[in-house]
Amino acid sequence: MHWDHYWDLTKALSSFGDANTALGYPEEVLNFWDEVVLEKGEGAVYLDLATGKGALAIWLQCLLKRKKISGSVYGCDLANIDELKITSDVDEINSAINKVKFQFNTSLENLPYPNEYFDILVSQFGFEYSNWSHSLNEAFRVLKKDGEIILMMHHPDSVITNDCKSGLKILNWMLENNILNELENLVALKLQGHIELFQTRNKEVIQKIQSLNISNDEEKLWFADIMSKVSKIMLNIDQTSKTKLNSLQNALRQQIERLLDQTSVAFSEDEIYEKFEAAKLKNMKMSIATFNVNNELFCWQIKISPKEM
Ligand SMILES: C[S@@+](CC[C@H](N)C(=O)[O-])C[C@H]1O[C@@H](n2cnc3c(N)ncnc32)[C@H](O)[C@@H]1O
Repeated sequence: MHWDHYWDLTKALSSFGDANTALGYPEEVLNFWDEVVLEKGEGAVYLDLATGKGALAIWLQCLLKRKKISGSVYGCDLANIDELKITSDVDEINSAINKVKFQFNTSLENLPYPNEYFDILVSQFGFEYSNWSHSLNEAFRVLKKDGEIILMMHHPDSVITNDCKSGLKILNWMLENNILNELENLVALKLQGHIELFQTRNKEVIQKIQSLNISNDEEKLWFADIMSKVSKIMLNIDQTSKTKLNSLQNALRQQIERLLDQTSVAFSEDEIYEKFEAAKLKNMKMSIATFNVNNELFCWQIKISPKEM
């Protein structure tokens, strides 16, 4: 699965590894979960669904310690993540990591926990990847009768989804136009000493790359990112360059899969209600609202709770 590859390579604790906080989440998201922990109070047992490398679970554990609230935090994910690779340079985060009870290779459609075990199930961009008709029923099986589910989910018009679409445009263009294969041919020409031919073909490839129509800042960033990786390889051509271009091509394919996955789970409000209805959950109510970061649409915020609450 492409998530295995992603978590294996990244040092980040969340899939938002480029944000400016140690856990990778923007301040507004950290504050949102801070309020949830305060509201839930003493003794709650949390489960972070599709935890990845655990950023949300770890943050909840940090909050319990900071606020001197008792409670425990579990996190599970389908990916095959090596727990030893979940580390941080920040002491507070490291000690929280050691307390969270992680379980990997675990699907939300088949949770390995007893009935009515958790007070609260949470998820930050995780639950929507599962098959709701199974995972919602599983979620309610492991949730206590008066428990609550709080989910932050991808939104089809969010900054994240728009960024994914920009990434997909640039990365797909690179692959569809065989840019990396052409660079591999250039490497071969240079190594074989065909310098003139190399220079002519090099110009042609550069012209082809310049023909890519970049229409916004996000696309510009994606383009700059991939071009910096390409330049690093092409400015020092040697016997290892072909292998490096090959691994870059594989990494791009994995990235495309991840971006496609991400955009495909950004559901509309109607779709979310439909999926919830289809799970045929009796006595549960759902509320849904948008969540902004820096005044920009970031995601959906969803609460599911027993009707009598
Ligand atoms: C966007 S990442 C989010 C991870 C984490 N919540 C975070 O904030 O960084 C989505 C995660 O969903 C996991 N996932 C996808 N389908 C799943 C399923 N059916 N059951 C459990 N986890 C799943 C993937 O392995 C991946 O780690």
